[in-house]
Amino acid sequence: MSVTRSFTVAIDGPAASGKGTISKAVAAHFGFAHLDTGLLYRAVAAKVLAGKEPAQAARDLVPHDLEDDALRTSLVAQEASKVAVIPEVRAALLDFQRSFAARAGGAVLDGRDIGTVICPDAQVKLFVTASAEVRARRRFAELSGKGVQITLDEVLADVQARDARDMGRADAPLRAAVDAVTIDTTEMAIADAVAAAVAMIDAKRENLI
Ligand code: DC
Repeated sequence: MSVTRSFTVAIDGPAASGKGTISKAVAAHFGFAHLDTGLLYRAVAAKVLAGKEPAQAARDLVPHDLEDDALRTSLVAQEASKVAVIPEVRAALLDFQRSFAARAGGAVLDGRDIGTVICPDAQVKLFVTASAEVRARRRFAELSGKGVQITLDEVLADVQARDARDMGRADAPLRAAVDAVTIDTTEMAIADAVAAAVAMIDAKRENLI
């Protein structure tokens, strides 16, 4: 495949499904660029928590805003899910995501609406999911490892609240695109999920040569 051509991998799914890990691994394997689109909503949320109006915060976003470690907190995640309901916020982030996807040499974008709205023509679409309990346990282990004081029940409530908001909104709700392949990681090691994703992308690229 020529490196001057674009090749887009769209990876959607709920919080802590493993989609971020799979996206990073797939991008590293193929030498593709990777965009965690959740960071865009988190960066807007951080600005809103600091007092900015949401749509303006989205329009003013610059790449440097995505590099803040504070974007990883549960508070910012919940606020991100709230600002993501606002159509003007989503619209302001559209062009950046589409240009990223169209870059030469390949791109992996992960989020909630990549296969459905941002890149409906992506060459490969994956929907990565897992039960809410397993996702909460993964997130709890990650947060506890970082020394964050939180209970498993609180993390589960957090995950369920975000799922409900992300799936229930009118504009670009979280759902699998009709042509997406679902990978359920509830009882699957993430390494096996990565291998499945790599095999799928390999097969697609061979067909395009
Ligand atoms: O992937 P994440 O947990 O970092 O995403 C944070 C929130 O951002 C998520 O709860 C909903 C929103 N989001 C979205 O609406 N669309 C995307 N493509 C990515 C994230």
